[in-house]
Amino acid sequence: MVQLAYRTATIGDASLAADLMTAALPRMPQDPVMTRYRWESASQQTTVHGRFIGELDGRPVAFVSWVHGPWEELPERHCEVDVWLDRAWLERERLRSSLTWICEQAVAEGAWLLLNYTGEDQPDMLEVLAECGFERDRVERFWELDLRLHGERIVRQAREAKTSAASVGVELVTLADWQDPDKLKKLHEMDARTRQDIPSSLPILRESLASFERRIHAPDRPLDRSWVALADGRPVALSYLKFPPVRGLVWTGYTASHPDYRGRGLARAVKLQSLAQAVELGVPAVGTDNDAENSPMLHINRELGYTPTPGLVGHLKRVRRRDDG
Ligand SMILES: CC(C)(COP(=O)(O)OP(=O)(O)OC[C@H]1O[C@@H](n2cnc3c(N)ncnc32)[C@H](O)[C@@H]1OP(=O)(O)O)[C@@H](O)C(=O)NCCC(=O)NCCS
Repeated sequence: MVQLAYRTATIGDASLAADLMTAALPRMPQDPVMTRYRWESASQQTTVHGRFIGELDGRPVAFVSWVHGPWEELPERHCEVDVWLDRAWLERERLRSSLTWICEQAVAEGAWLLLNYTGEDQPDMLEVLAECGFERDRVERFWELDLRLHGERIVRQAREAKTSAASVGVELVTLADWQDPDKLKKLHEMDARTRQDIPSSLPILRESLASFERRIHAPDRPLDRSWVALADGRPVALSYLKFPPVRGLVWTGYTASHPDYRGRGLARAVKLQSLAQAVELGVPAVGTDNDAENSPMLHINRELGYTPTPGLVGHLKRVRRRDDG
């Protein structure tokens, strides 16, 4: 087996990285425009990245990376490591040496706990992770909804949910139609609060307003396709679909409701608005994902008619303890 040679990826490699990630896992195509946007956004975030292109005789065949938040806010100093090896060049040894290499980079960066997400349908990578000492942690469930099959029902349910919300004084509107000069600040506050309730083994860091605003204005998120539920001018639930500009499935970015308003059907109601809009736009199918222990979200997705697809398995490997010298 010939080892890969690694070079640091520059912003000009974002499109290449998206191609390599797509070649590694074709059922989850990565959008080149969005990959570049995320890389450009990194300067506004507190996360730190290492991104590399793996080459064979000068030919790019892999994208490998590490990413972590500020160490002072992460008691376990966890760092995500990823290996995307083009399937055409997939060999177990190559996969193992790529994973070992990127783990070494992360350890040199000061990580104590390594984190990786791999598809349930990627047996080679799952075996390599186990061989390299990673242990299974949580599962992220993936789902798809066939809108050609379920579209009519979804549009009807969306209409009913809107009427039902209005009857208790809750208005379902798009971000574009919500007229409030402070709307992004209010939405950021609600978004940050609700993220703390996502089932997770690791701390979820609070996102800055600047980073949130940049994500709101991302090319895959038209403001007239992001939905919020408003009670007395205050956002109490949100849901939006992301529409990748070049390739990839239309996908729910996030659905949440404020803790004071849960169990009233509002999360399902806003999600339904975004789905009904996708039906009207002629989108054939949409995807969504949620943690395998997120019972209300699992229930909502099942009830909406989503069918499960292979999810992502989170893996952890401790490389150092807090009190190691
Ligand atoms: C998940 C979340 C959005 C649900 O919000 P919500 O406003 O309570 O949702 P709804 O009221 O629309 O629907 C909840 C449904 O789950 C059901 N449910 C609640 N807890 C449940 C449980 N433990 N097991 C099974 N079903 C459950 C409710 O009965 C309701 O179903 P029903 O209307 O058929 O009776 C909310 O808890 C949240 O914001 N969590 C944090 C953010 C998050 O995890 N988002 C999803 C990430 S992808």
